[in-house]
Amino acid sequence: MVRKYKFGAPFETEAVTADLPLCSEPCPYGTVDTASGFSFTCTLGARDVVYGLGEAVRGINKRGYEYVSFATDDGNHVEDKRSLYGAHNFVVVAGTPCFGVFVDCPARLTFDIGYTRQDTLHIYSECADLYLYIIDGGTPYDIVRQFRGIIGRSYIPPKFAFGYGQSRWGYKTPEDFRTVLKEHRDAHVPLDMLYMDIDYMQDYKDFTVNGENFPDFPAFVAEMQRQHIHLVPIIDAGVKVEDGYPVYEEGVEKGYFCHNADGSLFTPAVWPGWTHFPDVLDPEARAWFGGQYRVLLDAGIDGFWNDMNEPAIFYSKQGLADLAETYREALPEGEDMALLRVAQQGAWLAGSEKDYARFYHNVGGQMVRHDTVHNLYGYNMTRAAAEAFARLRPQQRILLFSRSSYIGMHRYGGIWTGDNRSWWSHILLNLQMLPSLNMCGFLYVGADIGGFGSDTTRDLLLRWLELAVFVPLMRNHSGTGIRRQEFYQFEQPEDLRHVIRVRYRLLPYLYSEYMKAALGGDMLFKPLAFVYPDDPFAPQVEDQLMLGGEVMIAPVYTQNAAGRYVYLPEEMDFVKFLPDGTIAEQWLPQGHHYVEIALNEVAMFIRKGRCIPLVDAAEYVDALDLGTMQYLGDKTAAYELYDDDGITPVAE
Ligand code: GLC
Repeated sequence: MVRKYKFGAPFETEAVTADLPLCSEPCPYGTVDTASGFSFTCTLGARDVVYGLGEAVRGINKRGYEYVSFATDDGNHVEDKRSLYGAHNFVVVAGTPCFGVFVDCPARLTFDIGYTRQDTLHIYSECADLYLYIIDGGTPYDIVRQFRGIIGRSYIPPKFAFGYGQSRWGYKTPEDFRTVLKEHRDAHVPLDMLYMDIDYMQDYKDFTVNGENFPDFPAFVAEMQRQHIHLVPIIDAGVKVEDGYPVYEEGVEKGYFCHNADGSLFTPAVWPGWTHFPDVLDPEARAWFGGQYRVLLDAGIDGFWNDMNEPAIFYSKQGLADLAETYREALPEGEDMALLRVAQQGAWLAGSEKDYARFYHNVGGQMVRHDTVHNLYGYNMTRAAAEAFARLRPQQRILLFSRSSYIGMHRYGGIWTGDNRSWWSHILLNLQMLPSLNMCGFLYVGADIGGFGSDTTRDLLLRWLELAVFVPLMRNHSGTGIRRQEFYQFEQPEDLRHVIRVRYRLLPYLYSEYMKAALGGDMLFKPLAFVYPDDPFAPQVEDQLMLGGEVMIAPVYTQNAAGRYVYLPEEMDFVKFLPDGTIAEQWLPQGHHYVEIALNEVAMFIRKGRCIPLVDAAEYVDALDLGTMQYLGDKTAAYELYDDDGITPVAE
């Protein structure tokens, strides 16, 4: 049962699509206090597990720390970070009673989950204008299913988006992309997507292409398509301030950018230098911004990644002016430029709270201060694109994912988890976020494989790929200036080829399970306890996941390991894809095991009485041949395969 409460005058986020009556009875599972801001408090039993929060640091069980929902551009995802790029305000308390809480509040919100007091869950915000949803049910899984039922269907990408993608901040010219493609095709390493980071643009201007490098961009897109490659360009939130740039000029003329309290335009600096933020909370401005994607669609593009949409701010014109004013007296005459130069380089102006409280959106003629709706920006930028695609390409699914998000955005696109590092701990973090994101509706998700920041290593990349083989968005992406990490940069590249090819062998299964989860409001990745609710050990398992209805994954994520310990809640088929192309299967009984998994092997487990389909690998998704299908696991079992053309939108 879902209870909906209304406090004050909430901003309509449209996170929830179900039309629910308001509840007037008191909240049964906790104390709500709105005397000053909002506060929800309840007691946690000693063994209660708290699930949820989507994109956040730490484990699947979120208990023992404090998390702040405030979309933040911070590339240092260490354990004590309270905020990452997304804001996913849904938690499930798995205990007695068992209930879920969704706080539909787009402002800053804190989840103190046994941090101040280990027996207390305290959710609070300065904002008291919000909707609160309380869901009860028999199990945490049941609660998640109910929650998913009220927030609308998850985004469905095209089938090619389940292929492998290569990306790097630094690919600039057609030659750069051709080289990456040739290396893959020559070595028969599958590849479906090449991602275009900001260098494809002219001076980082959205919806432009560098004319010198790409004199005939549509011809280049077509050249790639002939080789079955989808180019996926990045779009950033900030629109460059530059006379003669039509997107800027039209946005100014029509009043589609966010503004300061005095009506002048808010001017933050991001990659292009000075920019304005399209006011994507205003439906008219949102339609206008979405319409801009057309120029790239018309060039043949069928996928996008939306970035810097927390929205990230390096510093703002107004912030710099304040700073100069503060220090003017301390500076010698005429020296404030030096200060500005320091400030421009200093991260201390980046993502400043003052800036987020400085600018406004126009919502139905009302001025809404940004910090009160901060967490909705990435959501609505992505919604802008998706709504435009539905208008401009009604017969086609377009690949779309975003860095920042809020619950509700899961209907419009996927997410990638931003600027992680080439750290072993980030393989585990990637795994732990998967079920949490699925609980919040985000199914098309993935992390930068190999790590975005820091120099990667061959063994780390291999182990990461061995997890990513199972993850919908499988993209190797890295930052500029660090060690390159395409498969061909390493010795014995055949090992990397082997792992990537396993992805394609499993692809019909992964696609089928993704589609069943999307169409059925289900999770693709579940904590073990969701599938084995009576197993006393399952709630403790933080490094294994159930995938779809048949599989359990337990990747190796530690350096120099030749295998790992794994817990089997029931008898399972331990499957290993060996580098010579053969497959080893061994039925293991319920219980704890140590299993050997060499650096060049992909391992997984198939549940008792289940089987999964497997096909021959191919070099791109469209070349997969279902005629080569065989089955792994219990050969007496049947598997119901979902399949479709992978491109036509699926009616709701
Ligand atoms: C941001 C993105 C990253 C991208 C970079 C340059 O840091 O998160 O993926 O490569 O910007 O566009």
